[in-house]
Amino acid sequence: TVLATKAPVIVAPSMDANMFQNSITQDNLAKLKARGFTIVDPGYGYLASGKVGLGRLADVEKIIGTVKQVLGRSGDLAGKRIVVTAGGTREPIDPVRHIGNRSSGKMGYAMAEAARDRGATVTLITAPTSLPEPASMEVIRVETAVQMKEAVTKASAQADALIMAAAVADYQPKNVAEAKIKKEAPTLTLELVKTPDILTEVKGNLIKVGFAAESEDVIENARRKLEKKKLDLMAANDITAKESGFAVDTNKVTLISRDGKIESLPLMSKREVADRILDRVVGMLDGRSVELIIKPFMIKLRRIRIDSDKRGIFPPLGTGFDLELDDGSVINTYIDKRTGQIWKNIRQWFKAHPELKAGDKVIITVVEPLKKYRLEIIK
Ligand code: PMT
Repeated sequence: TVLATKAPVIVAPSMDANMFQNSITQDNLAKLKARGFTIVDPGYGYLASGKVGLGRLADVEKIIGTVKQVLGRSGDLAGKRIVVTAGGTREPIDPVRHIGNRSSGKMGYAMAEAARDRGATVTLITAPTSLPEPASMEVIRVETAVQMKEAVTKASAQADALIMAAAVADYQPKNVAEAKIKKEAPTLTLELVKTPDILTEVKGNLIKVGFAAESEDVIENARRKLEKKKLDLMAANDITAKESGFAVDTNKVTLISRDGKIESLPLMSKREVADRILDRVVGMLDGRSVELIIKPFMIKLRRIRIDSDKRGIFPPLGTGFDLELDDGSVINTYIDKRTGQIWKNIRQWFKAHPELKAGDKVIITVVEPLKKYRLEIIK
């Protein structure tokens, strides 16, 4: 049945640890991977033999997450890289205490899972939460606003969109005590300094989405933040509404876009809110990439033709631009005036992808308008 199916195949191996680590098993798994099977690696723990080792069937959540990610590969965010932040940052006061907030991470995790399920490559940057780690995405754990900023800056360099659902502390203690502060004095004064504003400071040609947790003048305050932080979209959270905001499974948000359009959504699950936000992100990204279908002549001649209706995102014909390939290398090329084809320096990419066949889809995304683009195969 497996050999006959055209459906994607996911294998979740589970066996004795020595059997799993045996080079024969490992070679066979490598062969399956090379043939396009997806492997969900086993976990570490007690095995049926009574021993402890690597070979336990992966957690059900991990297997389901992988299934969703594989099924979503041709979703409307296929080929896109999305960075999501979640949870509340912790700003240390001394080795045992910190300033924190009530964010549970639920909104951010729902955002990350929704983006993954629609085909995006997701990086989730999370402050501490008690939520299980979502499958099939890169998860970066941080504690403070400064650490979150470093992680977001790094991940955003390659990203198409940044969605900040995290509740980032606005202030941090100026000095962190090296030893636990004794409770002898009747009062204690902490001097606080501002944390970096991550959304404002992250630069680049990416869509930026913020959340604003507000308890009064919700729309007006959120709109002010959108303008100050130069965002494309703001999800204004009314945290006074019942079952909305921090640490619950539902949320009531109003979406405010840069052009001033306002859409008030009813109370819905955080996952539904996430999908409504992603619908907007997809709309904003649409004008920034083109999807192409590989034709037999392209494989034969090792060229990519850009149809005339898809040339709008590129510089004029014959004008050079950089094209980042999926191995991270960058070539300089152009669209030929006569043929509408990209042929200069692109042969190496075809050589690196002998598996490419007619009918496969690729996506070219703007990294820096008119200067730099990224070429990826949509799997
Ligand atoms: O985690 P949950 O329990 O599910 O709760 C979800 C939530 C209520 C935390 C979430 O939906 C939410 O509203 N997050 C934003 C919280 C907030 O009030 O942010 P803010 O108004 O302080 O900041 C506005 C935006 O700027 C946010 O996107 C924030 O991530 C970002 N920010 C804030 C401070 C800072 N130093 N750097 C930032 O980038």
